[in-house]
Formats: sequence, C-alpha cells, structure tokens
Amino acid sequence: MAKFLVQKSGPLHGEVTISGSKNAVLPILAATLLTREECKIMDVPALRDVDVMCQLLESLGAEVETDLEDHTVNVKASGELHWEAPYELVKMMRASILVIGAILLREGRAVIHLPGGCAIGERPIELHLKGLKALGATINEEQLSAGIVDARADHLVGSDIYLDFPSVGATEVIIMAASLAEGTTILENAAQEPEIVDLANFLNKMGARIKGAGTDTIKIEGVKEFRGVSHHVIPDRIEAGTFMVAAAITGGRVLIRNMVPNHLKAVIAKLRECGVEITMEEEGILVCADNRKIVSTDIKTLPYPGFPTDMQSPFMALLTIARGPSVVIETVFENRFMHVGEFNRMGANIKTDGKAAIIPGGKQLQGAQVVATDLRAGAAVVLAGLVAEGTTEVSQIHHIDRGYENYTEKLRSLGANIMRIDD
Ligand code: UD1
Repeated sequence: MAKFLVQKSGPLHGEVTISGSKNAVLPILAATLLTREECKIMDVPALRDVDVMCQLLESLGAEVETDLEDHTVNVKASGELHWEAPYELVKMMRASILVIGAILLREGRAVIHLPGGCAIGERPIELHLKGLKALGATINEEQLSAGIVDARADHLVGSDIYLDFPSVGATEVIIMAASLAEGTTILENAAQEPEIVDLANFLNKMGARIKGAGTDTIKIEGVKEFRGVSHHVIPDRIEAGTFMVAAAITGGRVLIRNMVPNHLKAVIAKLRECGVEITMEEEGILVCADNRKIVSTDIKTLPYPGFPTDMQSPFMALLTIARGPSVVIETVFENRFMHVGEFNRMGANIKTDGKAAIIPGGKQLQGAQVVATDLRAGAAVVLAGLVAEGTTEVSQIHHIDRGYENYTEKLRSLGANIMRIDD
C-alpha cells in the first residue's frame, strides 16, 4: 500500500499555487451532459475524483478528452446516453449522483446505485430525490429500498422546492434538472457555496436562466436547450485553506497564489484569532506565522458562509499545538471525528462528546503510524506530522489523492520533509 513518510519540518517558506476546485469541477463535468455540443473545461485539477467522473461520463456515452497536464477536459455528449451508471464507478465517488438530472432529461430514465465516497456519516440523498420528484420525476420506491435510484420522467416541470437542509449536492442536482425543465423553479434554503455559483455561471453561459446562486433562494427559468461552452473552474478554497494552516502550524511564511479570499472569510477570521497574520498582496495572500505563538480558538462548522466542514480536520491539527484549550463543534456531518483517534495516537489527547471535540492544546506531537480516514483528515494528519517529533507514517493515502493535486510536491517545494512511498 502506498504511504507518506512525514518528518518534523522547519517553518514552511515560499509560494504555492492553488489548483482548480474539485467540488466545483465535478458538478460542472456532470453538467456537460446537458448539451450535445462540445464543452471545454479549463483549470481542471488532476485528481482521482476527476478521473472517476471522466470515466463515468465516458461510460454513459460521452466522448471525453483529458489533458490533465494542461488541466483541460473536453466533453462531447452528442449521441444517445446510457441511462444506467456503472456501479464500479459510482461506488468510488458519492458525487456520481450529480449526473442523475442530465441522464433523466436526455433519456427519460436514470438508474444509479447509491453512491460511496468518504465514510463521514450517512450522507443520504433524499433531498436530491425530493427535488427531482417535485420536478415531476417518479422514483421506484422498491428499488430505492434495495439501494438503487431508478428515476423516470418524460419531461420535467418547474416547481417551488424547499430544502430541509442546504445540501450542496441536492442544490446542484436540482438547478441542473430545473434549467431544462418547462417553466420556473424557485429553490429555497439552497446551498450558497462558491461551487454552486460556479456551476450556475457555467450553466448560464450554456444558455440557462438562473438567478440568485450564492444566496438561499435560487430562481431557475427553464429553457429548451443548451449550447457547448468553455469555462475556467474556480480555485479550490479547501486546498487554499489547507496550505494556510500548513504555513500556520509550522510557524512559516507562505504566499498563496490563485485563491479567492472571499471564499475563505471564516477560515481567515479564525486563523487571525489564532494569531496568524494574513495580508492581501497583489500576487496572492501572504500567511505569516513566524515568531508567533498560535493561540487557541473555538470553531463550529456550518454551511457556507460558515466555517467549512472540510476545513475542520486540518484546523484541528493546528489547535493541537495552540496555547490553551479549544472546542470544535461539527454540525454538518454526524460522523466527522474519525481523525481524532489518529491525532490522539500522536499525543493530542482530544476528547469527543457527540458533535463536540475538546482539544487541550499545547502538545508536542509525536510521530506515529496513522491512517488517512477520509480525504480531508488525510491532509490533516500530514500537517500534524510536519510538527511531530520523529516520523509520521500515513497510510490509506488514496483518500488524499482524491482531492489534493500534487500534495507532497507542493509541500516539499515549501520545505516540508515528506516522501511518498508507492508499493
Ligand atoms: C459536498 C462536498 C463535500 C462537503 C459537503 C459539505 C462535493 C463533491 N462535496 O458534499 O466536500 O464536505 O458538501 O460542505 O461538493 N444531507 C441529508 N440529506 C440529503 C443530502 C444531504 O441529510 O439528501 C446531509 C448529509 O448527510 C450531510 C449534510 O446534509 O450531513 C451535508 O451534505 P451535502 O451538503 O449534500 O454534501 P455533499 O454534496 O455530499
């Protein structure tokens, strides 16, 4: 099994360029199926999840040309699509469900086995299905209880939809499906993440009429068809946040290029509370923690614009060494503290109680054998390894490959002592 060996490293110094956003590119790639014309997607990160999505599009009948060195993917779905998504691909990535609306609109039926992805809680899709049903799709309930989504619709009709929780995936599925439905859809309590805005911008370029993306109410006026377009994906705010924490935890000084500070207001505010200096420079964001003691702070994860759940574990790595105790409350996923066990192997002494984790702080972490329990937790234990005495061996790193492009190379270019060992 491939693994990372991380040694205690000095302060990180230098510049790092953030890749395109994983969570933005996945729905955008799914949305390319909504037109028979060719779409060109640029600034695509070279990641395992992107690879899985491209394979999924191909398996459904699209022509996909990938040049990940150039960070470009061309998709042309001119012919008939298969309405069944292969289980081998769907089980590898929860975001596979994002293709459901396009297949349904194009073929009148979509069959998808319930998706896999990170093991961070139940991650149901009843809100996605509630939205599709409101637009006129029927879902075979018997199949659903056997773990298979079998949706049918001759055509979709706009509707008023309220989401019980602002689910990112459900919002994306609904805006894609509603854009080519007949009439108007008003989606309330919609997710407001920047990735939703990027998807809406992409769809609007294709010919959609979507207003209000980035707020909690999105209005979609259905149109008849879409055209092929080119689109640059937004930078990955979670990768940017992870490198900000890498600079902070090592007491370093790092310029982060290609990040949108507005997308990371909560993380920037919390880093500042910890005593990290963050300044907006012309070329990027300068994160400076040299000669500073990190002080503790409390965080509570929330849907955007709150503190992102995907930054919870990287930030917790920082709090293990902060002066004083901190409390982290996870409200988005019900099972997102699996990394606590790994930090504790390194001497962090964190206690959890339901949605709360109490981090005593002030620890000198010790290198240990740890597991990347999910994508972000994997990145987080690597950060802890940078300040732990001795060697930290991180296994199950395929999780990290799902979402961080060249993680070790980028860290090494800043002076981190990290090595990848492939089998
Ligand atoms: C997306 C991101 C993921 C991020 C998450 C929350 C992608 C590819 N992934 O995941 O990195 O951690 O947003 O910011 O963009 N829920 C329900 N019923 C549903 C749908 C969701 O109860 O039908 C719950 C989930 O169990 C979870 C919460 O809502 O507790 C958030 O899920 P959601 O916003 O849907 O996350 P994803 O789109 O899967």
